[in-house]
Amino acid sequence: MTAFPNLFSPFRIGSLSIKNRIVMSPMETHLCNAEGFVTKELISYYKERSLGGVGYITVENTAVDPAGRVNDGMMCVHDDKYIPDLKKLADAIHAGGGKIVLQLSHAGREALPYFTGTGTVAPSAIPSPLTKEMPKELTSDEVKAIVNSFACGAERALKAGFDGVEIHMAHGYLVNQFFSPESNTRTDDYGGDTSRRARFGKEIVESIRKKVPDDYPVICRISADEYTETGLKLEESKEIAKILEKAGASAIHASACNYASAFFNIPCYYLEEGCFVHLAEGIKKVVKIPVLSVGRIHDPAMAEKVLRENKADLIVLGRPLIADPYLPNKVKEGKLADIQVCLSCNRCIESISDKKLICTVNPYVGKDELFHLQKTVKPKKVLIIGGGPAGMSAAITLSGRGHNVSLWEKKGELGGNLRYAAMPPKKEPVGKFLRYLLKQTEKKSISVSLNKEATENNIKQFAADAVVLAHGAKDVPVEIKGTEGDGVLNVKRAFSSIETIGNNVAIVGGAAEGCELADYLSSQGKKVSVIEMRRVLGLGLVAHPRFHVCERLRKRGATLIINAKVTEVGRDYIIISRRKMPDEKLEGFDTIVIPTLHQPNTELESQLKTFVPEVYTIGDAKEGRTALEAIAEGVEIGLKI
Ligand SMILES: Cc1cc2nc3c(=O)[nH]c(=O)nc-3n(C[C@H](O)[C@H](O)[C@H](O)COP(=O)(O)OP(=O)(O)OC[C@H]3O[C@@H](n4cnc5c(N)ncnc54)[C@H](O)[C@@H]3O)c2cc1C
Ligand SMILES: Cc1cc2nc3c(=O)[nH]c(=O)nc-3n(C[C@H](O)[C@H](O)[C@H](O)COP(=O)(O)O)c2cc1C
Ligand code: SF4
Repeated sequence: MTAFPNLFSPFRIGSLSIKNRIVMSPMETHLCNAEGFVTKELISYYKERSLGGVGYITVENTAVDPAGRVNDGMMCVHDDKYIPDLKKLADAIHAGGGKIVLQLSHAGREALPYFTGTGTVAPSAIPSPLTKEMPKELTSDEVKAIVNSFACGAERALKAGFDGVEIHMAHGYLVNQFFSPESNTRTDDYGGDTSRRARFGKEIVESIRKKVPDDYPVICRISADEYTETGLKLEESKEIAKILEKAGASAIHASACNYASAFFNIPCYYLEEGCFVHLAEGIKKVVKIPVLSVGRIHDPAMAEKVLRENKADLIVLGRPLIADPYLPNKVKEGKLADIQVCLSCNRCIESISDKKLICTVNPYVGKDELFHLQKTVKPKKVLIIGGGPAGMSAAITLSGRGHNVSLWEKKGELGGNLRYAAMPPKKEPVGKFLRYLLKQTEKKSISVSLNKEATENNIKQFAADAVVLAHGAKDVPVEIKGTEGDGVLNVKRAFSSIETIGNNVAIVGGAAEGCELADYLSSQGKKVSVIEMRRVLGLGLVAHPRFHVCERLRKRGATLIINAKVTEVGRDYIIISRRKMPDEKLEGFDTIVIPTLHQPNTELESQLKTFVPEVYTIGDAKEGRTALEAIAEGVEIGLKI
């Protein structure tokens, strides 16, 4: 008996019977090849997610027209030549008992012309808010040709064995561009009032219906609110949903945003969980067909509540299934603490702008077959130094493969710098992920010694076959006149001694750590000034959280100074130097925080190499970076030894 009865009740969209209410959201992976064909990596990525227990998979956006390809990482279905490989994908999912739907897409003005080589097209000649590229306005004959491309794409999906199609009518892509008064100023049959702007979408559904069986699922994904001043709002989207229902749509998938509001579309940790549920709820009130809800519904209890309160019929999960393909099965079995938590950090979406999908917490993405660990034939005595994310990931992987693993941590608790990473406001997912790592470390037969500092001597005595150095970076204070001595406060000390921090704080260095500390302190009512010598704040953060943290600081009235180098620090003042301006003294601070450089920490490595057969340095000890590299290198070494 599951604690989530609604989430695990069966459902049906037309001919598609679904074992539970969890749907995998379409998410571009760049695991196809440059011509848009399915690859082995792509099949194993989706197979893994299907085996993880999801109700059905929606495969990433797939181009129905070469001019609608957003880049060379977008899959294609614009030609019959794609059918055999798409069939291999559908067959692989069906062989494991799963269900699979293909998302059909045309990016319109958001396609990249340098890549497609054809220039972009749109309902009206209004430039993309992102690329600023001016599109060509489609003639009505060209509009009809694209309607037909969608219908042909659906027919190919059917031939390849897909259980349904989803039409990408959201996120500022071509169909959304037609729906929106912001991007559609046409005066012909495809522009004007709501029903005329909805005509393109309506004709797509109608023409697909002519090519597929009556009960074949045709799901329409819309941006029910574009979150821009002049774009679509829920009330108008309800009218569009009704038009699509009448045209033959089988379900409405209520997403949000366009390229102008892209920092809200894939809600990072600064945005509320379930922030788009009200959109599904609104649509559900006006249509009889099923409605899907998406957007940070990452907590199973929230998903269950949305269904119980009848705000949606299906819950769509995106990033949580990148982070942990087995999430649905774990929820069903009540193993919530075993879920590898998505951080909502958006490293994934940033990665696919020019390369294959990556995930901060799941290094197996794109190499999914490696997740099922091969036992070692030669178990070794392995010593891991440092219990941060790198050390714990290595320990979990090595122990899972049957090695005899010991982990030494000099502090009284595991976690390393991830403990600081979890402290700023809204970063609870990092704390949850840390608890996940601790639980996995506990569950495996790893011998953990806390308050144990590794030295050349005690490592020699331990006589390991292999030593993994995961002892973090060497933190070196940045040299600024006046900061010599022990009294200086750095970011980590500031986080851990909040009670000693005064009301007026200067934070020297506005990269990732400085901005997050500023957010932490200003959220507690302190007056904060951030001084950064480069042109931008928040360097080192992913673009989405960087945008939001800067907004938060601005809204709270923090003083944000860029292009300014701090040349001297006194007890309550700093001196800043800017190009072509006289030096300036800023005074009256109670606390001044100075930045730290995270440098490679390789002294132990050179000592150990003389007596340990295998020595590896990973994570920040190798080079100060982020948890992504620490976890990836931990797993990599875990698979290598
Ligand atoms: C304020 C802050 C916010 C951050 N936010 C993020 C974020 O949002 N996302 C992200 O991806 N990254 C973030 N990072 C960076 C991330 O935390 C680090 O990159 C990551 O923790 C590095 O992992 P690691 O295991 O290599 O090293 P660490 O986390 O530094 O762990 C090293 C461990 O080794 C122990 N140790 C050191 N010497 C010895 C010894 N001789 N014997 C035994 N044990 C020893 C230390 O006590 C420590 O526990 C943040 C960092 C900070 C400081
Ligand atoms: C890496 C990545 C790629 C995405 N690609 C697509 C896509 O191809 N089509 C689409 O409609 N949405 C795409 N999205 C948006 C997701 O489908 C989903 O709406 C979003 O991630 C919010 O859901 P979540 O909070 O469950 O992750 C993508 C999101 C991510 C993170
Ligand atoms: S990269 Fe970050 S947001 Fe994306 S799936 Fe992984 S943990 Fe989640």
